[in-house]
Order: sequence, then structure tokens, then C-alpha cells
Amino acid sequence: MMPRILLSVPHMGGNEQAYVSEAFDTNWLSTVGPNINAFEVEFARTVGMPSVALSSGTAAMHLGLRLLGVGLNDEVICPTLTFVATANPITYLGAKPVFLDSGRATWNLDPDLLSRVLRERANQNRLPKAVIVVHLYGQPADMDQILEACNRYEVPVLEDAAEGLGSTYKGRPVGCHSGLAAYSFNGNKIITTTGGGMLSAANPDWIDRARFWSTQARDNALWYEHSQMGYNYRMSNVLAGIGRGQLEVLPLRVRQRRQVAFKYRDAFADLPGIMFMPQSPHGIHTNWLSCFLIDEAGFGCSRDSLIRVLDSAGIESRPVWKPMHLQPLYAHAEYIGGDVAEDLFLHGICLPSSSSLSPEDQLRVVNTVRLAAGATAQ
Ligand SMILES: Cc1ncc(COP(=O)(O)O)c(C=O)c1O
Repeated sequence: MMPRILLSVPHMGGNEQAYVSEAFDTNWLSTVGPNINAFEVEFARTVGMPSVALSSGTAAMHLGLRLLGVGLNDEVICPTLTFVATANPITYLGAKPVFLDSGRATWNLDPDLLSRVLRERANQNRLPKAVIVVHLYGQPADMDQILEACNRYEVPVLEDAAEGLGSTYKGRPVGCHSGLAAYSFNGNKIITTTGGGMLSAANPDWIDRARFWSTQARDNALWYEHSQMGYNYRMSNVLAGIGRGQLEVLPLRVRQRRQVAFKYRDAFADLPGIMFMPQSPHGIHTNWLSCFLIDEAGFGCSRDSLIRVLDSAGIESRPVWKPMHLQPLYAHAEYIGGDVAEDLFLHGICLPSSSSLSPEDQLRVVNTVRLAAGATAQ
């Protein structure tokens, strides 16, 4: 039987094991050590902001929101079309998410809708405490328009760049436009530490505070003294070693993910009813995952049927994220917008997108999709 083709798998660069061995050889087997320090410095160079290495992207979102002062009963605007880990840290802090619809141009937070909502709320004297922007699947969000609206009302922005590492907007890495961003090194991401995250901020004092909270907020004293709430959110020095090796190949991984996506686009160019995810004209979309929309009438089979056909052929694919306002967990939350995100969820599919996907395996995916559409194989 042919091995199953997975959606997005880890892809080591080669030097990871040397950094990990160094940690073992020198017995730096905890949440302090040279790998952590070097990984933070090298990552800071990559995104252009001081950074703190954490146990997950979710932890980075949590600390990022806390830095913005989000607390009990505050409202935080959040795109509805995202993974649940964008929204949950709002709830951890006792605040309330207000979900906004996507724009068709990027699938990210609709900047026109955001401007309108902020204007209305300013008039009602109920501006949100913060706005979260997500760079979905590696697509850079419209940061100029979003920041213009937020700056007008002095509402701070946290960029969820968990899926956006390697993407740029107007020539600069996503995350640095607002000056506060969370990244993820989960096993399925463009680079991985098996699990981990990074919080980056233009203000170095913020990073010091986040680092302090991430290690149980231990005050400077001879004994264990605590005056603030802390968390056990620090990355291990062993995993930071994997991160160092991975960071060395990030530009290559971006090229490989984009190559995979454009190969699919070209292979389906003659098929009706299958549309490639839009590519922002303002930057580099890494296409961390290769996403398409399926129009059943044109394509000849529904999105769900296509997922089942791929599955029977030993190929993993996934629907685009189910919007947060449709999740039972957030049934009570406020939602503002139309049905764009819902439509993207109902018709969107993510195809196998690993940077290590072989040409033979990609051809298997291509031909399974083509045959499902009633077309000939390539
Ligand atoms: C958009 C988004 N936000 C946040 C996260 C959370 O990152 P982590 O899994 O590292 O906690 C992820 C991925 O897992 C994600 O895709």
C-alpha cells in the first residue's frame, strides 16, 4: 500500500540535531541555555523585533493580549475565520471576543468592516480594548488599512502570525507592522520546534515583561517571591536547538511552500469550479497551506466529496477553518458581518502542502483531484 500523504509535516534542515546534541553535551536541559538565547537573537533578526521564546503560539497570544492590558469584561475584535487558538486567549483573560467577517480579497479580517465597526463603537463610547489580526494560511493581511483605522481610535493591534512566519507585507515581515506579534512552531507550521511559539514586540520592555510572566513571574529576591500572576510558558533549551536549525532554512521553506501551491494552481488551471486562494498584491503569501475553493456546480463534485475521495486515495486534506461564530464554544459571542467566512469554510479545502512533498506525491494529489472532477489525469 502507498504511504499516506499528510497535510503538512515537519521538514528538518540538517543542523537541528547538532544544536540539540550540544544541549545534551553541555547539560543545558531546561528552560535556560545557549540555544534559547541564540534562537531569540536569530529570530529577532528575522522579524526585526526583540523576541521571547515560549512553549506555544497560544501562550504567545495570551501574553500578547495581557501586554495590551486586556482583562475582565473587555471586548477584543477578532477575525471569525481562524483557528480557535486565536480566540481562546481572549477568554482566558475573562474578556469577550467580538468576531468580524473576512474580506474576499485576502480571506483575512475585512478592513472596511473593521473601519465601520470602530467608527460606530467610537460614537457609542465602547471601543474594544484591542484588535487581533490573523495572517491566514500565510496570507498577509491589509495592515495599512487596518492600522489606519485602529490608530485613528488608538486601539492597539496584536498580530496572530502563527501561520504567517516568512510572509511579508510591503517588503517587511508580517508582525512588525503593529509592533506586537505571536508566532507558532507547532509541528504542522512552516518551521517547527515540535511545539513552541515566539512573542515579538517593537518595545523591548514588553518582551522583558512577557519573559518574566512566562517563568512564573518570580520577583528578584533570595526566596520565592511573587507579586504578579505568572505562567509556565518558557520554551525548552532542547527545542530551541531545533528552532535554530529550522530558522536557517526558513527562506528555503517559503520558496518550497510557494512552489507546491503554484504547481497545484497550474495543474488545475483548465478545470472549472476550483479557485486558488487569492494572493495579496501587497506582499509575499507563503501559502503555508495550499487552499482552493470548490464550486460544486462547476467542479462536478462537492468540497466534502472531494475530501472523501482524497481520503480513500490515502491523501489527507482539510476544510478551511470553521468560523468562530459558528462554533458551539462561541455561540454566545457577538458576530458582525455577512457570510463571507462561512462561504469560505463551506467551499474551501486545504491540500497537502508540506515543503518536503515529492513531485510524485504531488502528482498523486493532482490526479486524484482531477479524476474527482471528471477530468483526465496529467
Ligand atoms: C492562526 C493560529 N493561531 C494560533 C495558533 C496556536 O499556535 P500553537 O499551536 O503553537 O499554540 C495556531 C496554530 O496552531 C494558528 O494556526
